[in-house]
Amino acid sequence: MNERNTLKINNFGHLEIGGADAIELVKNFGTPLYVMDQAHIENVCLAYSEVLNKEYGYGMVAYASKAFSCKEIYRIINSLGLGADVVSGGELYTAKCTGFPTEKIIFHGNNKSEQELIEAVSSNVGIIVVDSFDEVDLLDKISKNANKIQTILIRVNPGIEAHTHHYIQTAKIDSKFGFSIDSGEAEEIIKYVSTKSNLKLKGLHCHIGSQIFEKQSYVLAVDKMTSFYKHIKETLCIEFDILNMGGGFGIWYSDGDAKTTVSDYADYVKLIATELKRNVEKKGLIKPYLILEPGRSIVGEAGITLYSAGNVKEIKGIKNYLAINGGMFENPRFALYQAKYTVKVANKMMDKGVKTYTIAGKCCESGDIIAEDVLLPSVERGDVIAVFSTGAYNYSMASNYNRNFIPPVVMVKDGVARYVVKPQTYEDLVRNDI
Ligand code: LLP
Repeated sequence: MNERNTLKINNFGHLEIGGADAIELVKNFGTPLYVMDQAHIENVCLAYSEVLNKEYGYGMVAYASKAFSCKEIYRIINSLGLGADVVSGGELYTAKCTGFPTEKIIFHGNNKSEQELIEAVSSNVGIIVVDSFDEVDLLDKISKNANKIQTILIRVNPGIEAHTHHYIQTAKIDSKFGFSIDSGEAEEIIKYVSTKSNLKLKGLHCHIGSQIFEKQSYVLAVDKMTSFYKHIKETLCIEFDILNMGGGFGIWYSDGDAKTTVSDYADYVKLIATELKRNVEKKGLIKPYLILEPGRSIVGEAGITLYSAGNVKEIKGIKNYLAINGGMFENPRFALYQAKYTVKVANKMMDKGVKTYTIAGKCCESGDIIAEDVLLPSVERGDVIAVFSTGAYNYSMASNYNRNFIPPVVMVKDGVARYVVKPQTYEDLVRNDI
């Protein structure tokens, strides 16, 4: 595991998260349980803002809330002065329920509905990032009807191939996202938007992918974007005020990943900020307002999922299955991306690993795995199994598959734990059934 002040082994040999003993959390809140370490979330956010201010002095970190969206995370993010990126009417609604300042919200999506655009405009969302020609027409019409001039960015594809799982690469040449700079489409849509009376184009957005460790990709992306800003300035006499470089910073999941600290995360921001400053000066551009949209790195390592161990099935000489009371309905990432996770027995943190287990969920399919071949102490029914780095894209991607409950979420800080998402009930499962 990637230990830190708020994630360690206590004197009982138990896992301790945010000052709370994991075994006590399980006694009080049951399993499966998503646990979030609030101090870690805050530390990452503060480090991002501090570095951005120090190195660039003109910009905003907007939390990509697709990573983990519920009312409390918008409250926390807002209290720390960050903005938020939302990608649906649902995320916008959730943020608004908490009084989140909508001028600090960026609305994304490659196929937003008319209704979502109407809601975004009428909510006075700060920026809408457009991603198609017909969206430009639609948004212009909606803004006109609302008697507003909507600030927009255009999502462009800088054609940078980041080394990550191909499902989460987003800026390759065949991507469904954005307008390619290289093909000339980006320039076309910039010209097109300039003809629209109720849209104010303030800059461009790119997001080169997710779970990126190769920092050089960002250096290339900043160079590509600023070269394009220069090209647009020279050919169309348009100077952009904003540059949104997206998110995507890689986090620690398992042995194969570098153990990241808060300051390692902040280094991504520092690199992008200093590269942008250097490029802007070199290319003679006005200094654009820099927006960054990290999601995973803010909440990912803050999250730990706790389960109860069920049966162990030994297939002699082949595999030992350890069944847990969760599975792909609350963490679909192994099934989707062959994602790797670190697993520990939270009540036996000091015991040596003696047996290799494949951690299987309770859903009706063989692909319902959380982690393969992990070395653990001998596991008995009722042991508490902890899976690390589950704070991003677990709760937000959970479903009621097999009519299982989406687990509740508990936020822990200074040893105090509280629900931020309550447990579901059977009534919740049939609420919309006719
Ligand atoms: N901005 C945009 C426009 C994005 O599309 C994304 C992520 C982000 C920011 C935040 O990226 P992050 O910092 O979280 O890497 N479900 C996948 C991840 C999909 C990410 C999609 N876009 C997973 O579980 O790995």
